[in-house]
Amino acid sequence: MSLINENFIKIPSSYLFSEIARRVNQLQQEQPDAAIIRMGIGDVSLPLPEASVEAMLRATEEQRHRETFRGYGPEQGYDFLRKAICENDYHTRGIQLEMDEVFVSDGSKSDTGNIGDIFSTANKVAITDPGYPVYVDTNAMAGRAGEPTETGTWSNLVYLKANESNGFVPALPTEKVDLIYLCYPNNPTGTTLTRDQLKKWVDYAREHKSILLFDAAYEAFITEPDVPHSIYEIEGAREVAIEFRSFSKTAGFTGTRCAYTIVPRNLMAYTKNGDAIALNRLWNRRHTTKFNGTSYIVQRAAEATYSPEGKAQVRAMINYYMENARIIREGLSKAGYTIYGGINAPYIWAKAPQGMSSWNYFDYLLKEKKLVTTPGAGFGASGEGFVRFSAFGQREDTLEAMKRME
Ligand code: MLT
Repeated sequence: MSLINENFIKIPSSYLFSEIARRVNQLQQEQPDAAIIRMGIGDVSLPLPEASVEAMLRATEEQRHRETFRGYGPEQGYDFLRKAICENDYHTRGIQLEMDEVFVSDGSKSDTGNIGDIFSTANKVAITDPGYPVYVDTNAMAGRAGEPTETGTWSNLVYLKANESNGFVPALPTEKVDLIYLCYPNNPTGTTLTRDQLKKWVDYAREHKSILLFDAAYEAFITEPDVPHSIYEIEGAREVAIEFRSFSKTAGFTGTRCAYTIVPRNLMAYTKNGDAIALNRLWNRRHTTKFNGTSYIVQRAAEATYSPEGKAQVRAMINYYMENARIIREGLSKAGYTIYGGINAPYIWAKAPQGMSSWNYFDYLLKEKKLVTTPGAGFGASGEGFVRFSAFGQREDTLEAMKRME
């Protein structure tokens, strides 16, 4: 008799964005003519940067000829891309980084979900609440989260609450934790940590020998000067942090798939006996065993985002989405909503009318306004009473959505 991983029975039967898609599809079937505007999942709406498309066409042509054809590539990513990442995303900010600390992948969803493979299930895990659901779900699948409770939390997770009363800046845990998921700029609230605020987490991790799992998928959307783009801008972070970055939102790769994870060489975790082991070595082992590399064509497309034209095109896309974010902020404020985010991130966190739950308000907006948002409660208990608006839509849709919200 084959036995299942029973942790899968404990988690909600459907992933957050799958459930939203189900409800939207149902409405679309019931009302085929409904002009639904999608501001739910953070999926980009602009086409790829021209520089990336041209690079893909060139790479495809290479694949046509025996002399230039490439089969399996290095699982960790081609040197041309790892070098471009080091030089453009880190060295320009004065951060020391070597190519073998960069692991190219097919997405930060996979990387943040898979990173748990290299950590013991005995670790105590802390997760910002609200947070990207992958962090909780994958820890629950691995058996690290304990049991689901009646309030929708997990018995063994430590929740780092980010809410209006603490200005969305979670306090350091009062108990010792081993793994800490931080996402800044934050998904879903769109809020950020300053350098000083982030330094507290680095100091905590250094003191407690914890590891910070820092999801920086939205760093390209930062507009304010005191917001760190990389956790390695903070002194000592190389000893305690893994950083996740993605081309998905930055350069429109949600369908093309490319991301990378930084595991510094001097980052250590411990055996039960207290022996220090380099996480770079473990992640390399995991990556080379379970992943066969992002496609050559896609890596060329990602590399092209660092060319002068690519950079300009990416910047234009980000500006477009951030203008949407401004329109949403302004539209919702005018309509009387309490809102957060949207300044350093493409998400606006809006308070539902008093007494309405996130899911009820989500359903109301879907049925009455034909607007798809994301219910805050889907990101954790502290998200209850909020919905998230994504700024990744087309301009006309964003303007129309705000008209409907008036
Ligand atoms: C989101 O909407 O939170 C993200 O798009 C989901 C993802 O990146 O997987």
